[in-house]
Amino acid sequence: MKRLLPALGASLLAGCARLPAALTPAGPQAGHIGRLWWTILWIQVVVYAVVIATLAWALLRRGRAADDAPSDPGSDRVLGRAVGGGLALTVLTLAAVLVASASTGHALASRARQDALAITVTGHQWWWEVRYEDSSPSNTFTTANEIHVPVGQPVRLVLTSADVIHSFWVPSIHGKRDLFPGRTNELMIEVDRPGTYRGQCAEFCGYQHAHMALLVVAEPLDRFDLWRRAQRSPAAEPGNPEAVHGRTVFLAGPCVMCHQVRGTGAGSNVGPDLTHVASRLTLAAGAIPNTRGHLAGWIVDPQQIKPGTRMPGNALDPSDLQALVSYLQGLE
Ligand code: CUA
Repeated sequence: MKRLLPALGASLLAGCARLPAALTPAGPQAGHIGRLWWTILWIQVVVYAVVIATLAWALLRRGRAADDAPSDPGSDRVLGRAVGGGLALTVLTLAAVLVASASTGHALASRARQDALAITVTGHQWWWEVRYEDSSPSNTFTTANEIHVPVGQPVRLVLTSADVIHSFWVPSIHGKRDLFPGRTNELMIEVDRPGTYRGQCAEFCGYQHAHMALLVVAEPLDRFDLWRRAQRSPAAEPGNPEAVHGRTVFLAGPCVMCHQVRGTGAGSNVGPDLTHVASRLTLAAGAIPNTRGHLAGWIVDPQQIKPGTRMPGNALDPSDLQALVSYLQGLE
């Protein structure tokens, strides 16, 4: 029954449209929430049907009763019983919803584990800083707007904010959890199916709240380990003369005021860490795909793409721009 109801509902809805991400869980936490959603939906369907049927019956009966004799001595007692029965049914239904929702909350809370892979996610206006923690400081590293996790392994997200309140929400993986400045929240997640899952800031946090997306990339353990090893290493050396020139443009320009590229002199952490920017799928927190053209457009005029973003425009000489893009695209 636990699996039948979601399956039945999903097949009914599948005829209309694709199911939203929250109803296609990719992990146990989203599975619990999804089952609760279906349970409450079906309870509501039954309640609605009973209410409408009762209303129709009452209307039909009233039409007929108007023709009959007005007073029936037993009718008050019948009415009293009907109201009492209705009340009891309502209380039972609400109690069932309460039990279902409390048991879901319990199932989600009991999964917290301290030995899990720990990732600190910090919300910024308007991007996500993602730091992989490790007992050895040299193994910690920071990336942005993309969280890679190994499939089938518990992951402990430590959530905080650098400015205003944001909310972390990847519907296929878990419910929403707020990120507050000055304090931390925890969220245990686990992803059972390899894939790329889109998340979104779910708390209005300013002008570009809608452009504050993130991706969770779930991979088998061996591929995740390869990714993690690559992310831990410092930035790649430029592979050609143009990229060498691009690095000079980067280090001499305003880029270093905000960005870090590990292994170079650029060490600011105002904006996203760019050490392995070329390995990411998107730029500007999911606003644009990570391609050469979009990257160049973003560097020149980010306000056009994401008005209000903290990144200013850069009127670069065309050859310097091409060189800078070549350098950044080599940072895999
Ligand atoms: Cu961050 Cu909305």
